[in-house]
Amino acid sequence: MKLRSVELAVPQADGAAAFLESLWGLFPAGTRGKTRFFRGTGAHPYILAIQSAAAPAVHAIEFSGSSGEIEEMHQRVRRAKVPVKTFTELDAPGGGEGFMVQGPEAQAYRFVAETAPVPALPAERDRPIQITHAVMNAIDVAASDRFAVEVLGFKVSDRTRAMTFVRCNQKHHALAYAHSDVSSLNHIAFEMNDCDGVMRGITRMRDAGFDVVWGPGRHGPGNNVFGYFIAPFGGVIEYTAEIQEVSDDYRVGAPEDWKWPPGRTDQWGLSQKDMARISGPERTFRFPSALRQ
Ligand SMILES: [Fe+2]
Repeated sequence: MKLRSVELAVPQADGAAAFLESLWGLFPAGTRGKTRFFRGTGAHPYILAIQSAAAPAVHAIEFSGSSGEIEEMHQRVRRAKVPVKTFTELDAPGGGEGFMVQGPEAQAYRFVAETAPVPALPAERDRPIQITHAVMNAIDVAASDRFAVEVLGFKVSDRTRAMTFVRCNQKHHALAYAHSDVSSLNHIAFEMNDCDGVMRGITRMRDAGFDVVWGPGRHGPGNNVFGYFIAPFGGVIEYTAEIQEVSDDYRVGAPEDWKWPPGRTDQWGLSQKDMARISGPERTFRFPSALRQ
């Protein structure tokens, strides 16, 4: 099972698409109706979908797996007596059958069988390969944490004062839930090949007038290198690399395991998170309450 994509509704879809292709480093991967798809250099048919809409929203956090993995997840969710909305063929590149399920704060999770992965593109050191995690703001992090573990079968990797990190494969986290007073998409992380790729991406963005709002740095939980930006379409996006791979016996970290010296929020201590600029965009994309396909 892998985190595959995030689907957003954005008010200025043309501008968002131009930014994603010309500066952020994604490739166009087709359109379906009002939805445009973008891919990285990895083997997923798309990793981001944006739909033109009057107001920003996050329509889906999408996972893909083999038909067997998706069927197993379907059975697991049904056993938990959580409502699901099934579909036989997703209207998106690659199609595939699957289902949607909603978390305790209306988080829309989609699970899709990816039976025909597209060939990977030649690696480019400053373009994203895939997405590697999505972080959500949650009012009741414990409830979302429980849902991820008990309903979806994900594993908790670490809990800090700020958030809970959960994984669905060996990568330290695919999702994280940040303590907040709203339910929203906090940010999406795009995986570069290595630290060099993150630094090149940061410079390309800076040269185009997009200052990094947190980074470069190396996180504690997950040990990944990062640089965060506010996208022109309103959300927070991250270049990241070198996420830690963990084994099944990884000891779940607690808040006391992740304390920083005063003035530090990451391992390097080169930068501070620019809260004045980032906290609004972390709240821009909310989940519509109704289940969507
Ligand atoms: Fe992140």
